[in-house]
Formats: sequence, structure tokens, C-alpha cells
Amino acid sequence: MQNIVIKGGARLSGEVRVSGSKNAALPILASSLLCSGRCLYRNVPALGDVRTMQRLLDDLGAEVTTGSAGTTVVDTSTVDNVEAAYDLVKTMRASVVVLGPLTARHGRARVSLPGGCAIGARPIDQHLKGLAAMGAKIELAHGYVTTRARRLHGATIVFDMVTVTGTENLMMAAALADGHTTLENAAREPEVEELARVLNKMGARIRGAGTHLIDIEGVDELHPVEHAIIPDRIEAGTLLVAAAITRGNVLVRDCLPEHLEAVVAKLRAAGAEVTPEDGGLRVRAKAALKPVDISTQPFPGFPTDMQAQFMVLAIRASGQSVITETIFENRFMHVPELQRMGADIQVEGRTVIVRGPCKLTGAQVMATDLRASASLVLAGLVAEGKTEVRRIYHLDRGYDRLDKKLRALGADVRRSKGGL
Ligand code: EPU
Repeated sequence: MQNIVIKGGARLSGEVRVSGSKNAALPILASSLLCSGRCLYRNVPALGDVRTMQRLLDDLGAEVTTGSAGTTVVDTSTVDNVEAAYDLVKTMRASVVVLGPLTARHGRARVSLPGGCAIGARPIDQHLKGLAAMGAKIELAHGYVTTRARRLHGATIVFDMVTVTGTENLMMAAALADGHTTLENAAREPEVEELARVLNKMGARIRGAGTHLIDIEGVDELHPVEHAIIPDRIEAGTLLVAAAITRGNVLVRDCLPEHLEAVVAKLRAAGAEVTPEDGGLRVRAKAALKPVDISTQPFPGFPTDMQAQFMVLAIRASGQSVITETIFENRFMHVPELQRMGADIQVEGRTVIVRGPCKLTGAQVMATDLRASASLVLAGLVAEGKTEVRRIYHLDRGYDRLDKKLRALGADVRRSKGGL
């Protein structure tokens, strides 16, 4: 097993380019299943979850070819299987986004139920409720969900809560359904908007993606596309925080500031200077950081996927920060590890109180999920001495060589073998 070893203390400086968005790439790769032919995607990030989605598509019978510089070709003309097996879904719950496309185009799907994960129970009832409203027969047995529908029909679906992959699954299903679908209380995340952009390029008729109300006029057929995927706003945010906590001066290139407004507002509130420059954002932090209060919200609010990283910033700030997690019920797994490094953090239900500034000392710590592992790497950057982050496969599931990018900015970060 690989670890990441960080010697803290370096001020980050220089320029770094953000990779393509993981959470946009996953449903977009799955959307290839809605047509027959060869889709070509650019700016696909090289990370574990994308490889899992490529394997899943391959399992379904698609031909998947990855080229240099982030290109992936998915040829769906040979798809002959509609089952997403347990072994793949258990490693990546986002595999569930094949459910909508398979049901819509192949009339049936059998997908292993994703179950919970380290950050919460994460049910898919909203996905199933929507497919049922569109006429799919749904059966849950032996740990799998099976859907059947000769052809889905349009429906009005009101989500009980904002769900990103739920909105994506139903938008893909509705694109090939018979008639008109309205998705109310839809997720407004940029990744949903990006998926709609791709589907419309394929010939879908979707309006309103990026708002709470999405209208979809079903069509009979979709055709293959070429598309370059948007930059990853969470990777960009993680790099911005890395620069701020190390009192660095970094230009984060190829990020879209309009996707990062809530994150940038909090960085500025913490005293970092963030300015648009050359198709990216420059962050400079000279003075001591100030405390910030954060409550995670669906987009355009502050993203849950940046909560763990901001906790490290709060640890370095002078004063008390209050961080509330409203999306997932168990997303504070990084807290005990940060406490072992010396952080003063008190957990009260879904809220934590962070008292800073704390001097962190390097330690052996364990990654438990993707964003938790990013926060431990960030903590290592500012800790005194050596930090060894174990179970780094969590980080590699969702970041395209984060360690290499940090090293290029001057951090002392390397990979090592060993440990559990
Ligand atoms: N929920 C339900 N029922 C459903 C669907 C969701 O109760 O049918 C609940 C969830 O349990 C959660 C909340 O609704 O409490 C929001 O979950 P959502 O469905 O929006 O999450 P997701 O679609 O499974 C995506 C991202 C996550 C990100 C969340 C929230 C992808 C592939 N994953 O997950 O990304 O945290 O939206 O923004 O898009 C990550 O990248 O580290 C990550 C976890």
C-alpha cells in the first residue's frame, strides 16, 4: 500500500493547472450509454474513480480507449450487458449513474445497491422514485436494483432533497423518455449543467439545468459527441487552500471562478487575497489567517467536498471557527486524525468548533475518505516535521496526482511504500 510523506513548512509558489472535473466526468462517461457509437471526451482526469467508470463501461460491453492528454473514447455500439456488478459498485457508489441511461436505452438495468460509505448512509430512493414515476418497474432483491421499462415516459418529479447524481440519473433517463419531464428541486451544481450541455450536444432537449427547475423534452434517439470536460472546482479549491495555509503565492490555472464563488468568499473572509488572473485565480496570503464560519450547502452554497480542507485553514486561523456539515451525516472522519496532529477541535453533532491557531506536529495518520485524505495532506504541509498519510488510495480515487502538483509548487511531498 502507498503512503504520502510530507515534510511541512514550505511556502507554496508558482503555477498549477487544474485537471478535468471528476464529478462531471463520471456521469458524462455514463451518458455515452444513451447512444450507439463513438463518443470522444477530452480533459478526462487520470484518477481512480474515472478508471472504475471506464471498467464498468467495459463490463457492459462498451469499448473504452484512453489516449494521452486526458482523452477517452467510449464506443457503445457493442453494449450487450445491463448489469453493474457489486464488485465495481462497492468501490465507487457513483456507478449508480448508469441506472438511468441503461433503463432508458436498453429497457432494463440491474445495478448493485451502493449501500452506505464512510461519509453517510447515502440512499438512492430519489433515483428510484423518479424512475418509477417515469414508468419503470423496480425490484429490489439480492442486493441489486432491477429496472424494467419498454419505454420510459415523461413525468413531473419533485425531489425531496437536492441530490446531484439523482438529478443526473433522471435527466439522462428523461432525455430518451416519451414526452415531457420536469425535475423540480433539482441540483444546481455545475456538473449537472455540464452533463446537460453534453446531452444537448447529443441531441437531447433539456432546458433549465443549473436552476432548480429542469425541463426535458424526450427524443427518440441520441447521437455520439465530442466534448472537453470542465475543470474540477474541488481540486481547484483544494489547491487554493493549500496556497493560503502555507502563506504562499500561487496561480491556479484553468479553473472557472464562477464555480468557486462560495469558496473564494470564505478564503477572502479568512484574509487571503484572491484575484482572477490569466484564466485562473491567484491566491496570496501574507498576514495571519482569520477564523471563518462555514455551513455546507448545495451549490451555489459552500460545497461539502471542501469542508475537510477548510478545517485545516480554520486550525491555522487566529480565533474560533464554527463549521457545520448539513449534507452528509458522518463527514468528520478527519477530525480525530487532525486532533492527533495537535488541532483543537470540538465536535457537537453536525457542527465542529475549531480553536486556532494551533501548531500541528507531523504524525502517522490514516485517510478514511477522499476529501478527508486531502485535508490530512494539507495538514501535513503546515505541520512541524514529517506527516505520513496512509491509505492514500482514497486520495487517488478523486485527485489527479495531487502530490505531484503540490511538489511542483515547492512542497516536500513524496510517495512511499509500506504501512496499512
Ligand atoms: N440522498 C437521499 N436519497 C437519494 C439521494 C440522496 O437521501 O436518493 C441524500 C444523501 O444521503 C445526502 C444528500 O441527499 O445526504 C445529498 O446527496 P447527493 O445525492 O447530492 O450526493 P451524490 O450525488 O451521491 C455527489 C458527489 C459527491 C458530493 C455530493 C454533494 C458525485 C459523483 N458525487 O454525490 O462528491 O459530495 O454530490 O455535493 O457527483 C466527492 O467528490 O468527494 C463526493 C463525495
